[in-house]
Amino acid sequence: MINIHPSAKISNLAIIGFIPENFKDEREFDTTIDENCVIEPFVIVYAGSYIKKNTIVKSGAQIGVTPKIKPELIGAKIGENSHILSNAIIEADVETGEKFTADQNSFVQFGCRFGDFVGIGQSAVILSYAKIGSKVRIHTLTMIGDYVTIGNNCFIGPNCNLTNAPHPKCPQIKICEKDYAVKLKDNIRIGANATILPGVIINNNVIVGSGSVVTKTVEEGIVIIGNPAKIIKETKDLICWDKEKYNIERPY
Ligand SMILES: CC(C)(COP(=O)(O)OP(=O)(O)OC[C@H]1O[C@@H](n2cnc3c(N)ncnc32)[C@H](O)[C@@H]1OP(=O)(O)O)[C@@H](O)C(=O)NCCC(=O)NCCS
Repeated sequence: MINIHPSAKISNLAIIGFIPENFKDEREFDTTIDENCVIEPFVIVYAGSYIKKNTIVKSGAQIGVTPKIKPELIGAKIGENSHILSNAIIEADVETGEKFTADQNSFVQFGCRFGDFVGIGQSAVILSYAKIGSKVRIHTLTMIGDYVTIGNNCFIGPNCNLTNAPHPKCPQIKICEKDYAVKLKDNIRIGANATILPGVIINNNVIVGSGSVVTKTVEEGIVIIGNPAKIIKETKDLICWDKEKYNIERPY
């Protein structure tokens, strides 16, 4: 069944409750669009999706897409007050919290979970079963690997890679990548172009400098830079570059 709240504005050129031709499951799926949602032209909302109130889905975006490698999945849940921009693709079995933003051309693979206030930058890629907390910004062109976990209040800069496979294409990779997916705890900031290698855990309040390659687990409250990344100071000792002008001494 398709449930569209009367206050929702749905373009005539959008498809709501879409079921792909080759979808095998013959159960009925409810597709719900809550109050005040706006669905622009050329959006496809797959059957079984639930788009909560005040959410805007811009033209060309697709929600709840059945993945090629998981043909049994369909539909996604998008939290209230969210903003899905043009050509963003959110696959099936994804659930977001409120105020979720997916920028243009971003891609969220099946099975991912998000807390509230999460933003995904342009062309960023979040691979399957990643679990991301609340108040997290993932910047443009960043790749978050399968099964990676990110805590609350984190910033991942542009063009970063959070990895999971220590030895790609090893015959056991599908098992081992779950164990080795990167884990970020809370209040972590990662500068542009950083790579976090498989098996690394980054503990609370860490800053990773731009361009770093992090090869080992990082203890709480430190700043690391370089390839391989090394400790340069404690996070609490970071000083603003012009504290008079910006009226702040310590950013963290
Ligand atoms: C890591 C970081 C937080 C350190 O800030 P800071 O403590 O104020 O750094 P400083 O400018 O005092 O630099 C300390 C030293 O580390 C070096 N350094 C700083 N950042 C570095 C980095 N990313 N890689 C290599 N060396 C770095 C500096 O050259 C300096 O070396 P020196 O003492 O020999 O002159 C900062 O440099 C950084 O990378 N910020 C992230 C920026 C970013 O990517 N933002 C993304 C948003 S678009």
